[in-house]
Amino acid sequence: MLKSTMSATLVLVLHLFVLHLQYSEVHSLANTSAHDFSYLEFVYDANDTELEGTYDYIIVGGGTAGCPLAATLSANYSVLVLERGTLPTEYPNLLTSEGFIYNLQQEDDGQTPVERFVSGDGIDNVRGRVLGGTSMINAGVYVRANTSFFNQTGIEWDMDLVNKTYDWVEDTIVFKPDFQFWQNLTGTAFLEIGILPDNGFNLDHIEGTRLTGSTFDNNGTRHASDELLNKGDPNNLRVAVHAAVEKIIFSSNSSGVTAIGVIYTDSNGTTHQAFVRGEGEVILSAGPIGSPQLLLLSGVGLT
Ligand SMILES: Cc1cc2nc3c(=O)[nH]c(=O)nc-3n(C[C@H](O)[C@H](O)[C@H](O)COP(=O)(O)OP(=O)(O)OC[C@H]3O[C@@H](n4cnc5c(N)ncnc54)[C@H](O)[C@@H]3O)c2cc1C
Ligand SMILES: *[C@@H]1O[C@H](CO)[C@@H](O)[C@H](O)[C@H]1NC(C)=O
Ligand SMILES: *[C@@H]1O[C@H](CO)[C@@H](O)[C@H](O)[C@H]1NC(C)=O
Ligand SMILES: *[C@@H]1O[C@H](CO)[C@@H](O)[C@H](O)[C@H]1NC(C)=O
Ligand SMILES: *[C@@H]1O[C@H](CO)[C@@H](O)[C@H](O)[C@H]1NC(C)=O
Ligand SMILES: *[C@@H]1O[C@H](CO)[C@@H](O)[C@H](O)[C@H]1NC(C)=O
Ligand SMILES: *[C@@H]1O[C@H](CO)[C@@H](O)[C@H](O)[C@H]1NC(C)=O
Ligand SMILES: *[C@@H]1O[C@H](CO)[C@@H](O)[C@H](O)[C@H]1NC(C)=O
Ligand SMILES: *[C@@H]1O[C@H](CO)[C@@H](O)[C@H](O)[C@H]1NC(C)=O
Ligand SMILES: *[C@@H]1O[C@H](CO)[C@@H](O)[C@H](O)[C@H]1NC(C)=O
Ligand SMILES: *[C@@H]1O[C@H](CO)[C@@H](O)[C@H](O)[C@H]1NC(C)=O
Repeated sequence: MLKSTMSATLVLVLHLFVLHLQYSEVHSLANTSAHDFSYLEFVYDANDTELEGTYDYIIVGGGTAGCPLAATLSANYSVLVLERGTLPTEYPNLLTSEGFIYNLQQEDDGQTPVERFVSGDGIDNVRGRVLGGTSMINAGVYVRANTSFFNQTGIEWDMDLVNKTYDWVEDTIVFKPDFQFWQNLTGTAFLEIGILPDNGFNLDHIEGTRLTGSTFDNNGTRHASDELLNKGDPNNLRVAVHAAVEKIIFSSNSSGVTAIGVIYTDSNGTTHQAFVRGEGEVILSAGPIGSPQLLLLSGVGLT
């Protein structure tokens, strides 16, 4: 009962947001195409001992954030991505809009790409467990961040670079949805009840009614963050699936504590280790639950 209620809500959200009006973006969005798996040439199984080396960066979690970050860093640095889940090719329903609900309803056998959990206050929820992360199972609604967000972080962002990054993502995996009659009706209703202004087709997080992008293309194919790995340098980038990171390895001396590597297990439970070089970093992108969990497992944040 709870599961079907959640699915119905998600479908509603998808339908409300993916409306279509005039296309007025300055840069192009992606064009309908098959999901691009070219990156498979640098994907390994975690049981491959060749991965047990030293890297400039180790990225924990090959999800929505981890994949584009790995591709970007690989331009100049050696990068290892460790993803606990499997390849999206193993579950064809991940790759189509028709498969969206099926995935969310599938039994969680511990390997499936949708991991179920119940929050502390009793809310039924899910998170991704597959290369591409939660972008491989979500509703595909694409919006740029509220520009206030950047200011509120207290970090001085190079907004020109931020915008170039948005363009890069949008031109690769974001689509302008095809017009449908009921979408026009919904948009018209929003405007009639006073949700103004009418922003047309716009990817910005702004007040009013607008039509936004989707990571589903107009052929019903899902596109996701894993495809951003295709932009990485194959000579500098290794991606491991079935690699569950268990612990971050720290080293300490008189000047402080540094993360120097990770311990991960393959699907047979065999333990492996990988390390970062002197100035290298272990980057956690295991999701809002996975990253803090891993810190706790590594002894950080325990009181
Ligand atoms: C059903 C659903 C629908 C949604 N719809 C939308 C939407 O339409 N639009 C939108 O903007 N947002 C949507 N979201 C939210 C959005 O998808 C997530 O906020 C976002 O994908 C999270 O990105 P992330 O990189 O932080 O984590 P994830 O993409 O979840 O990536 C984390 C990765 O780390 C891996 N991992 C975790 N622990 C370990 C470990 N110990 N070792 C190795 N790997 C590990 C996981 O397997 C996963 O692949 C939706 C979410 C859900 C659940
Ligand atoms: C999509 O196709 C249009 C028309 O052919 C082209 O102008 C545009 O550059 C293409 N976009 C991408 C991201 O390839
Ligand atoms: C349309 O999607 C199917 C899978 O759903 C894919 O096999 C096919 O290549 C796609 N066609 C185009 C033109 O992208
Ligand atoms: C590694 O795992 C894959 C399945 O994920 C399996 O096909 C392969 O035989 C394994 N290799 C070794 C050396 O165990
Ligand atoms: C890679 O190096 C080039 C040249 O120094 C620099 O312009 C670019 O910003 C670097 N990229 C990353 C991701 O570090
Ligand atoms: C955030 O905005 C305020 C007010 O516009 C400004 O004073 C402040 O410098 C901004 N902070 C950053 C980090 O850009
Ligand atoms: C970045 O893009 C936003 C719209 O998404 C725009 O409001 C802002 O002016 C742009 N900033 C820069 C520096 O180009
Ligand atoms: C709906 O379609 C009508 C007629 O083409 C158009 O004038 C109107 O702007 C559309 N409204 C929305 C919200 O798309
Ligand atoms: C963007 O963030 C600001 C500051 O938190 C908030 O006032 C505004 O309502 C937000 N815009 C939207 C569309 O949510
Ligand atoms: C102490 O650790 C820091 C960070 O790992 C490192 O840069 C430094 O060289 C170390 N110092 C000594 C004396 O080992
Ligand atoms: C697990 O170990 C068995 C026996 O050594 C091997 O045949 C199999 O391929 C391994 N599977 C994985 C995923 O490593």
